Amino acid sequence: MTDQSRQPIRTFGRRQARKLSARQDWLVRERLAQLQVPSAGPGELDPSGLFAPAPDDIWLEIGFGGGEHLVAQAGRHPRTGFIGCEPFIDGMAKALGQLEDGGLDNVRLHMGDARELMRWLCDESLGRVFILFPDPWPKARHFKRRLIQPAFLAELYRVARPGAEIRFATDVRSYADGAIAQFLGHGGFEWTARTADDWRIPPEDHVTTRYEAKQLGDITPVWLRFRRIP
Ligand SMILES: C[S@@+](CC[C@H](N)C(=O)[O-])C[C@H]1O[C@@H](n2cnc3c(N)ncnc32)[C@H](O)[C@@H]1O
Repeated sequence: MTDQSRQPIRTFGRRQARKLSARQDWLVRERLAQLQVPSAGPGELDPSGLFAPAPDDIWLEIGFGGGEHLVAQAGRHPRTGFIGCEPFIDGMAKALGQLEDGGLDNVRLHMGDARELMRWLCDESLGRVFILFPDPWPKARHFKRRLIQPAFLAELYRVARPGAEIRFATDVRSYADGAIAQFLGHGGFEWTARTADDWRIPPEDHVTTRYEAKQLGDITPVWLRFRRIP
């Protein structure tokens, strides 16, 4: 999008914290060039074509931070194609290092805003989406910077297939309350929790993330799992 006035409001903080090591610099220049998702026109990208052989499903992680969850899930599910989005170059370099060390070939990457990548994706192309501890923007005047907004949910609904799981975690009460209200307000997602343990206890296959471990929020983490309905 070239028209600055049409840029979506920024949801993330810094893009770089420290100078990359020589290896990280190489990974970002060489390996990212091979693994990055190519840009496409709106709705034109069929992500299964990014992987060979074609994967059984495609899962997206938005804001993967240091990549520990993305890489662990990709290792456990070799027949699933993963796309990870992260604008923070230090995190991208960390994820690339882990992918290189693990020899994993089922992950593709976008070093930028997930909303840009989602615009490229064709309809109903994702089977699962992870949004784990998104930037909390805890002050009310910054709520507009939170990722979960009506326009984001409209796009998420378009790219998720019926039955897809959207897994959202936060340790900020106002974000948890706001996310439930927005997902249910959209009308295209159902909250799958039946008992309190369904949102209090992490999913069995969860991998603790770096940000989660810091316990910076005002509540213990909640795990909100939504299903995209037809
Ligand atoms: C609080 S951190 C959590 C990182 C990781 N999920 C974890 O739990 O350790 C949120 C991350 O989301 C990324 N982020 C924020 N907005 C984003 C967006 N629109 N698209 C992709 N990533 C985004 C930030 O750069 C940051 O690394």
